Amino acid sequence: MMTLCEMAVDVLTTADGREKTAKSRRYAKQWFEARKADTPLQIGLADAPLRPSRPVRPELLDPRDVPKRKPGSEQGRIALLHAVAHIELNAVDLHWDIIPRFAHVKMPMGFYDDWVKAADEESKHFNLMCDCLEELGSHYGALPAHAGMWRAAEDTIEDFMGRLAVVPMVLEARGLDVTPGMIKIFKNAKATSAVEALETIYAEEVGHVAYGSKWFHFLCGRHEQDPKEAFHTLVRTYFHGALKPPFNEEKRAEAGLPPDFYWPLTETAAG
Ligand SMILES: [Fe+2]
Ligand SMILES: [Fe+2]
Repeated sequence: MMTLCEMAVDVLTTADGREKTAKSRRYAKQWFEARKADTPLQIGLADAPLRPSRPVRPELLDPRDVPKRKPGSEQGRIALLHAVAHIELNAVDLHWDIIPRFAHVKMPMGFYDDWVKAADEESKHFNLMCDCLEELGSHYGALPAHAGMWRAAEDTIEDFMGRLAVVPMVLEARGLDVTPGMIKIFKNAKATSAVEALETIYAEEVGHVAYGSKWFHFLCGRHEQDPKEAFHTLVRTYFHGALKPPFNEEKRAEAGLPPDFYWPLTETAAG
């Protein structure tokens, strides 16, 4: 039987998106079956690759060079779905990366349950976006995508709390802010399957931010640190730029992110 770390490395070193997510979902199922049978898989130890394997396409460009398209057109909506698919694939790797990367830090089993569940959901999200693209005659890889999505992972490669602060509590929380606007675009276009897929993503992402906040607070407690102070210091250390309002305060609250965590990190608060 593979350890959880070995499973994670296998997902990370699989390049094709559909293949990567199929493995991710299969391993998640194995993890939860073993948990249910009270014979949990070992966490183990393994070397995570510095960067995950990715398919040859999409071509990765500097964000400034990725062409902008109007969301009012079908081409614009395809570009939007493609961008979300790219984010979701990155999220699959981010969730699996944290397991071997910080396996030397002893964590309760509940932490791995949360991370494996989120990795499984990210895999589902990627597949949903691919299905929507294919329905519109496109596919993941047909357009260029942002390079540098893995930067947050590299920046926090040695800092577990920094990783939790930047990835779930800043980047995934940002998803909560922008997803309702995207849902509106697809509703206006009467694109039912995209609306349903984005609503699934929106609902499940609240959970991912909540897992981040939960385990960040757990580690603050372990190290006797004030969570708000620690969060501000870590985001200022590892995240490049200010946080951008408007914030989805309601969903952020639901995910355990109070306003005094993120408002002081906006541009206006920095002066
Ligand atoms: Fe997601
Ligand atoms: Fe997520």
